[in-house]
Amino acid sequence: MPGPFAYRDGALCAGSVPLAPLAERYGTPLYVYDFDGIAARYHAFSQALGDQPHRICYAVKANSSLALLARLARLGAGFDIVSGGELARVLAAGGDPAKVVFSGVGKSAQELKDALAAGIGCFNVESEPELWRLGELAAAAGVVAPVSLRVNPDVDPETHPYISTGLKDNKFGLAVERAAALYPRLAEHPHLDPVGIDFHIGSQLTSLSPFIDALRRVLALVDQLEEGGLTLKHIDVGGGLGVRYDDEAPPSAAAYGAGLKGALQGRPQTLVLEPGRWLVAEAGALLTTVEYEKHHEGRRFLIVDAAMTELLRPALYNAWHPIVPLVEPAAGAAAPQAADIVGPVCESSDVLGRDRAITAAAGDRLAILAAGAYGFGMASNYNTRNRPAEVLLEQGEAYLVRRRERYEDQLALETLALGESA
Ligand code: LLP
Repeated sequence: MPGPFAYRDGALCAGSVPLAPLAERYGTPLYVYDFDGIAARYHAFSQALGDQPHRICYAVKANSSLALLARLARLGAGFDIVSGGELARVLAAGGDPAKVVFSGVGKSAQELKDALAAGIGCFNVESEPELWRLGELAAAAGVVAPVSLRVNPDVDPETHPYISTGLKDNKFGLAVERAAALYPRLAEHPHLDPVGIDFHIGSQLTSLSPFIDALRRVLALVDQLEEGGLTLKHIDVGGGLGVRYDDEAPPSAAAYGAGLKGALQGRPQTLVLEPGRWLVAEAGALLTTVEYEKHHEGRRFLIVDAAMTELLRPALYNAWHPIVPLVEPAAGAAAPQAADIVGPVCESSDVLGRDRAITAAAGDRLAILAAGAYGFGMASNYNTRNRPAEVLLEQGEAYLVRRRERYEDQLALETLALGESA
């Protein structure tokens, strides 16, 4: 099983904490995150980079729980954000704005203004119009904006097409030649300061070579700029390191760090990293209860109380997550039968696991594992379902860090509008 999850005396636990009592107390569906595992990974990442100056900017989109962000901030993490909302979260969690990098292809004027006012560490600019818009806003605010250009190194990350971002025909970044032409102009702008360069080629990468190929291409540009008299302070290699959901064998943090350092060849720049999934995916589980067992046209369905609304990844990417019962099937119990584990949402794609050999019946509780990244963050209220509660575990203690939504929460923003129009 991935992450901290294992059976102890027949009970599924995260580290030393049994999960069934949490499901009992807070209800299901319920997200549970093991912060100790996340902290250990943060330190492992940092250790892997050793004496290379570096900054780990956690990609907030992977899991934006305030409680999680606050703890990462306490460890000294920076943050990679992609919206004004994520900036608000980082600030509310006590994150240091100077350690924030702001990625994304479509930053609005308001988002740029707010980030300038907060004094963030770097704007990862993805287009020329964005660059000049940022320059104007910085001038109006009387400040100098620290800038990195996101280059698109055109390497194939060999991952799912929806989460691949570094090929030349997708919307992200600037061609290397375009960036080469822009840096000198940017350097002359009185309100823009070219501090870095960045790329991000995709997510859930399970081999090292695309990272290294991309970095080498970017380093060639760094060297070229240096020959022209422009020395950058940091090189941001994005996120994307994969995790184990099934039988993937992604590189270890140590191998990843060693590979990056090898390519950098002692260059003095600060290496910035934007890991999301790698830090949090395996530390999270979504707990759910089987509502019904249904046999239909020769298939067995376990209909559970979690759905694509809580965990969209299987429906959207055909992603595979381990699904296991909270109570370990007794040795010698009947052989597990195949079942489709599906949610109650009115969509045929509302499947959490297809054809799983599993021993479970109505009333049993299950854990969907490796759900700490892009789980809650991609949850929705479709079918007017309340988004689930979240529990964070730290040193054997469980904290309810987000209560379950209520119908009143959802209805509160609306009016019947039966009177005069606005
Ligand atoms: N930096 C940038 C600029 C990104 O766009 C992303 C993710 C990251 C960092 C973090 O990547 P990570 O280390 O987590 O792979 N919803 C999809 C994943 C989308 C990733 C988008 N960008 C999923 O559930 O697989």
